[in-house]
Amino acid sequence: MKKLIIIGGYGNGTVVQSTVEDINEEKQQWELLGFLNDNEKEPINGYPVLGPIDKETVQNYLKDSNVYFFYSLISVKLNHKFLFKLIELEIPKNRFATLIHPTAVVSKYAKIGYGVCIQPFVSVGPNTSIGNFIQIFAQSLIGHGAKLDDYSYVANNACIGADVHLKEGAYLGTNATTLEYVTLGKWSITGIGAVVLKNVDDYAKVVGSPARVIGSTK
Ligand SMILES: CC(C)(COP(=O)(O)OP(=O)(O)OC[C@H]1O[C@@H](n2cnc3c(N)ncnc32)[C@H](O)[C@@H]1OP(=O)(O)O)[C@@H](O)C(=O)NCCC(=O)NCCS
Repeated sequence: MKKLIIIGGYGNGTVVQSTVEDINEEKQQWELLGFLNDNEKEPINGYPVLGPIDKETVQNYLKDSNVYFFYSLISVKLNHKFLFKLIELEIPKNRFATLIHPTAVVSKYAKIGYGVCIQPFVSVGPNTSIGNFIQIFAQSLIGHGAKLDDYSYVANNACIGADVHLKEGAYLGTNATTLEYVTLGKWSITGIGAVVLKNVDDYAKVVGSPARVIGSTK
């Protein structure tokens, strides 16, 4: 069985933990060793905190070739300004786990990278391309031909139209919907419930229906 360490904790990290447990219930695949976390010392949902999020701790675990990581610290608050945390750990890409909840429906014609977590009841259509370090939360729909670049983020119940492109770090909020073919710019944020009818610029923050710019994430 492969071993897994989740980098993060309460919040997205525990969502990933739940998915791992559901995967294991179907077929034992992962031994969840615990979390790396800078703030918590006590166990998180019964799993130990193995140490802080630093290179030394990570490199020690990497010596065991059966250990994989999941980086759960990408969120609306922890965006590009915190990415250095991931980069400075120097974990090879192929040592990040990709975790797909047993209830998700993922087309066999979808390409999926490293460090991706696909949550319950998500649908990923054919000819989609899902990059690395991406979380797709419960009940979202990814239309056929959509392209999600690294670090992009799909909150629960979001609906991505066909052939939509989420550029690096683009964040799509809960219940947001996009028209087909639009592009969400690099590290842009689309708020909850937005209806996106046209391209969103890099670093723009948009809300509403139709979505309008209210600020910047820079
Ligand atoms: C878009 C978002 C990031 C804006 O956050 P913010 O920069 O802190 O903006 P504020 O809360 O200061 O709001 C600024 C204005 O936009 C409005 N606004 C914010 N989010 C909105 C939304 N989703 N839809 C419509 N209007 C919204 C506010 O009412 C406020 O209007 P006002 O100036 O007339 O009072 C945030 O509201 C959001 O939707 N985050 C996504 C959350 C999510 O999906 N989480 C995943 C599940 S946990």
